Amino acid sequence: MQTIRLATQQDAAAMPDIERSSGEAFRKIPNLAWIADDKVTSQERHAALIRLGAAWVSRDASNKLTGFLTAEVREDVLHIWQMSVRSDQQRKGIGRNLIQAAENWARAKQLVAMSLTTFRDVPWNAPFYASCGFQDVDPHFYSVLQSTLEAERQAGLPIEQRCAMIRLL
Ligand SMILES: CC(C)(COP(=O)(O)OP(=O)(O)OC[C@H]1O[C@@H](n2cnc3c(N)ncnc32)[C@H](O)[C@@H]1OP(=O)(O)O)[C@@H](O)C(=O)NCCC(=O)NCCS
Repeated sequence: MQTIRLATQQDAAAMPDIERSSGEAFRKIPNLAWIADDKVTSQERHAALIRLGAAWVSRDASNKLTGFLTAEVREDVLHIWQMSVRSDQQRKGIGRNLIQAAENWARAKQLVAMSLTTFRDVPWNAPFYASCGFQDVDPHFYSVLQSTLEAERQAGLPIEQRCAMIRLL
Protein backbone atom coordinates (compact mmCIF):
# COMPACT_ATOMS: atom_id res chain seq x y z
CA MET A 1 0.00 0.00 0.00
CA GLN A 2 1.23 3.49 -0.83
CA THR A 3 0.55 6.64 1.15
CA ILE A 4 1.16 10.25 0.16
CA ARG A 5 2.03 13.04 2.56
CA LEU A 6 3.65 16.47 2.53
CA ALA A 7 7.44 16.16 2.39
CA THR A 8 9.56 17.03 5.43
CA GLN A 9 13.21 18.11 5.62
CA GLN A 10 14.20 14.52 6.54
CA ASP A 11 12.92 13.33 3.12
CA ALA A 12 15.31 15.50 1.09
CA ALA A 13 18.27 13.10 1.45
CA ALA A 14 16.40 10.26 -0.31
CA MET A 15 15.06 12.33 -3.19
CA PRO A 16 18.13 12.47 -5.49
CA ASP A 17 18.29 8.65 -5.51
CA ILE A 18 14.60 8.41 -6.37
CA GLU A 19 15.09 10.80 -9.30
CA ARG A 20 18.15 8.80 -10.48
CA SER A 21 16.16 5.57 -10.36
CA SER A 22 13.12 7.11 -12.10
CA GLY A 23 15.33 8.31 -14.98
CA GLU A 24 16.03 4.70 -15.99
CA ALA A 25 12.74 4.88 -17.90
CA PHE A 26 14.46 7.10 -20.49
CA ARG A 27 16.90 4.34 -21.51
CA LYS A 28 14.08 2.97 -23.67
CA ILE A 29 14.12 6.13 -25.82
CA PRO A 30 17.33 6.23 -27.91
CA ASN A 31 17.55 10.02 -28.37
CA LEU A 32 16.76 10.71 -24.69
CA ALA A 33 18.68 7.79 -23.11
CA TRP A 34 21.32 10.28 -21.88
CA ILE A 35 18.79 11.56 -19.32
CA ALA A 36 19.23 8.30 -17.36
CA ASP A 37 22.86 9.32 -16.69
CA ASP A 38 22.28 13.07 -16.37
CA LYS A 39 22.80 14.92 -13.09
CA VAL A 40 19.83 15.05 -10.74
CA THR A 41 18.39 17.79 -8.55
CA SER A 42 20.49 18.28 -5.41
CA GLN A 43 19.40 17.46 -1.89
CA GLU A 44 19.81 21.17 -1.07
CA ARG A 45 17.40 22.24 -3.82
CA HIS A 46 14.86 19.64 -2.61
CA ALA A 47 15.26 20.93 0.95
CA ALA A 48 14.64 24.49 -0.24
CA LEU A 49 11.48 23.48 -2.14
CA ILE A 50 10.21 21.46 0.85
CA ARG A 51 10.67 24.57 2.98
CA LEU A 52 8.33 26.45 0.62
CA GLY A 53 5.60 23.96 1.57
CA ALA A 54 4.47 22.42 -1.73
CA ALA A 55 6.29 19.08 -1.95
CA TRP A 56 4.87 15.58 -1.49
CA VAL A 57 6.33 12.11 -1.08
CA SER A 58 4.88 8.64 -1.46
CA ARG A 59 5.99 5.76 0.73
CA ASP A 60 5.32 2.05 0.78
CA ALA A 61 4.12 -0.14 3.66
CA SER A 62 7.68 -0.43 5.02
CA ASN A 63 7.94 3.39 5.13
CA LYS A 64 10.44 3.52 2.26
CA LEU A 65 10.04 6.56 -0.01
CA THR A 66 8.92 5.56 -3.49
CA GLY A 67 8.34 8.90 -5.21
CA PHE A 68 8.00 12.66 -4.90
CA LEU A 69 6.49 15.73 -6.47
CA THR A 70 8.02 19.17 -5.86
CA ALA A 71 6.25 22.38 -6.76
CA GLU A 72 6.10 26.06 -5.97
CA VAL A 73 3.34 28.68 -5.92
CA ARG A 74 4.00 31.49 -8.36
CA GLU A 75 1.35 34.08 -9.24
CA ASP A 76 -1.55 31.94 -7.88
CA VAL A 77 -0.43 28.95 -9.95
CA LEU A 78 1.11 25.76 -8.54
CA HIS A 79 4.09 25.14 -10.84
CA ILE A 80 5.35 21.54 -10.70
CA TRP A 81 9.15 21.42 -10.85
CA GLN A 82 9.75 17.70 -10.70
CA MET A 83 7.97 14.44 -10.27
CA SER A 84 9.73 11.08 -9.93
CA VAL A 85 8.75 7.54 -8.98
CA ARG A 86 11.33 4.82 -8.33
CA SER A 87 11.71 2.65 -11.44
CA ASP A 88 10.49 -0.55 -9.71
CA GLN A 89 7.38 1.28 -8.47
CA GLN A 90 6.24 2.93 -11.71
CA ARG A 91 2.84 2.27 -13.32
CA LYS A 92 1.13 1.49 -10.02
CA GLY A 93 -0.78 4.77 -9.88
CA ILE A 94 1.68 6.59 -7.57
CA GLY A 95 2.29 9.40 -10.08
CA ARG A 96 -1.42 9.98 -10.51
CA ASN A 97 -1.89 10.04 -6.72
CA LEU A 98 0.94 12.56 -6.29
CA ILE A 99 -0.73 14.84 -8.85
CA GLN A 100 -4.04 14.40 -7.03
CA ALA A 101 -2.46 15.34 -3.67
CA ALA A 102 -0.96 18.47 -5.24
CA GLU A 103 -4.27 19.33 -6.89
CA ASN A 104 -6.23 18.93 -3.62
CA TRP A 105 -3.75 21.23 -1.90
CA ALA A 106 -3.89 23.80 -4.72
CA ARG A 107 -7.69 23.83 -4.66
CA ALA A 108 -7.70 24.28 -0.87
CA LYS A 109 -5.40 27.30 -1.35
CA GLN A 110 -7.78 28.60 -4.04
CA LEU A 111 -5.02 28.65 -6.65
CA VAL A 112 -6.19 29.14 -10.22
CA ALA A 113 -4.14 26.48 -12.03
CA MET A 114 -1.30 23.97 -12.02
CA SER A 115 1.48 24.13 -14.61
CA LEU A 116 4.58 22.26 -15.78
CA THR A 117 6.97 21.73 -18.67
CA THR A 118 7.66 18.27 -20.03
CA PHE A 119 8.55 16.15 -23.07
CA ARG A 120 5.80 16.23 -25.68
CA ASP A 121 6.15 12.67 -27.03
CA VAL A 122 7.36 10.62 -24.04
CA PRO A 123 4.42 8.39 -22.96
CA TRP A 124 4.90 9.07 -19.23
CA ASN A 125 5.28 12.81 -19.78
CA ALA A 126 2.81 14.97 -21.81
CA PRO A 127 0.36 12.10 -22.65
CA PHE A 128 0.32 11.09 -18.97
CA TYR A 129 -0.28 14.69 -17.83
CA ALA A 130 -3.00 15.07 -20.48
CA SER A 131 -4.71 12.05 -18.93
CA CYS A 132 -4.56 13.95 -15.59
CA GLY A 133 -6.39 16.92 -17.17
CA PHE A 134 -3.43 19.10 -18.27
CA GLN A 135 -3.56 20.83 -21.66
CA ASP A 136 -0.85 22.14 -23.97
CA VAL A 137 -0.54 25.87 -23.62
CA ASP A 138 1.40 28.66 -25.31
CA PRO A 139 4.21 29.38 -22.76
CA HIS A 140 3.65 33.12 -23.27
CA PHE A 141 0.39 32.55 -21.37
CA TYR A 142 2.34 32.47 -18.09
CA SER A 143 5.78 33.94 -17.38
CA VAL A 144 6.99 31.00 -15.23
CA LEU A 145 6.48 28.61 -18.18
CA GLN A 146 8.36 30.94 -20.50
CA SER A 147 11.31 31.37 -18.12
CA THR A 148 11.41 27.64 -17.31
CA LEU A 149 11.59 26.69 -21.00
CA GLU A 150 14.31 29.30 -21.53
CA ALA A 151 16.33 27.87 -18.60
CA GLU A 152 15.87 24.37 -20.05
CA ARG A 153 17.12 25.60 -23.45
CA GLN A 154 20.20 27.09 -21.80
CA ALA A 155 20.75 23.82 -19.90
CA GLY A 156 20.87 21.97 -23.22
CA LEU A 157 17.50 20.19 -23.24
CA PRO A 158 16.15 19.59 -26.78
CA ILE A 159 13.69 22.45 -26.54
CA GLU A 160 11.75 21.52 -29.69
CA GLN A 161 10.67 18.35 -27.87
CA ARG A 162 9.47 20.21 -24.77
CA CYS A 163 6.02 21.62 -24.17
CA ALA A 164 4.25 23.72 -21.56
CA MET A 165 1.08 22.44 -19.95
CA ILE A 166 -1.52 23.89 -17.64
CA ARG A 167 -4.50 22.57 -15.75
CA LEU A 168 -7.07 25.19 -14.78
CA LEU A 169 -8.61 24.50 -11.37
C1 LIG B 1 6.19 10.37 -14.64
C2 LIG B 1 6.17 9.37 -13.48
C3 LIG B 1 6.46 10.13 -12.19
C4 LIG B 1 4.80 8.72 -13.40
O1 LIG B 1 4.77 7.92 -12.24
P1 LIG B 1 3.96 6.54 -12.19
O2 LIG B 1 3.80 6.18 -10.75
O3 LIG B 1 4.56 5.55 -13.08
O4 LIG B 1 2.54 7.03 -12.76
P2 LIG B 1 1.15 6.26 -12.83
O5 LIG B 1 1.35 4.81 -12.54
O6 LIG B 1 0.19 7.01 -11.98
O7 LIG B 1 0.69 6.48 -14.34
C5 LIG B 1 1.63 6.47 -15.31
C6 LIG B 1 0.95 6.66 -16.66
O8 LIG B 1 1.94 7.20 -17.52
C7 LIG B 1 1.96 6.43 -18.71
N1 LIG B 1 3.16 5.59 -18.68
C8 LIG B 1 4.03 5.44 -17.66
N2 LIG B 1 5.06 4.68 -18.00
C9 LIG B 1 4.83 4.31 -19.27
C10 LIG B 1 5.55 3.50 -20.20
N3 LIG B 1 6.72 2.92 -19.88
N4 LIG B 1 5.03 3.33 -21.41
C11 LIG B 1 3.85 3.89 -21.73
N5 LIG B 1 3.13 4.68 -20.90
C12 LIG B 1 3.63 4.89 -19.68
C13 LIG B 1 0.71 5.57 -18.70
O9 LIG B 1 -0.35 6.34 -19.21
C14 LIG B 1 0.53 5.33 -17.22
O10 LIG B 1 -0.80 5.07 -16.88
P3 LIG B 1 -1.32 3.53 -16.93
O11 LIG B 1 -0.29 2.69 -16.24
O12 LIG B 1 -2.63 3.61 -16.19
O13 LIG B 1 -1.45 3.20 -18.40
C15 LIG B 1 7.23 8.24 -13.66
O14 LIG B 1 6.99 7.61 -14.91
C16 LIG B 1 8.66 8.74 -13.62
O15 LIG B 1 9.24 8.92 -12.56
N6 LIG B 1 9.26 8.96 -14.82
C17 LIG B 1 10.64 9.39 -14.94
C18 LIG B 1 10.82 10.83 -14.52
C19 LIG B 1 9.90 11.74 -15.30
O16 LIG B 1 9.75 11.63 -16.51
N7 LIG B 1 9.28 12.66 -14.55
C20 LIG B 1 8.36 13.65 -15.09
C21 LIG B 1 9.10 14.84 -15.52
S1 LIG B 1 8.01 16.05 -16.26
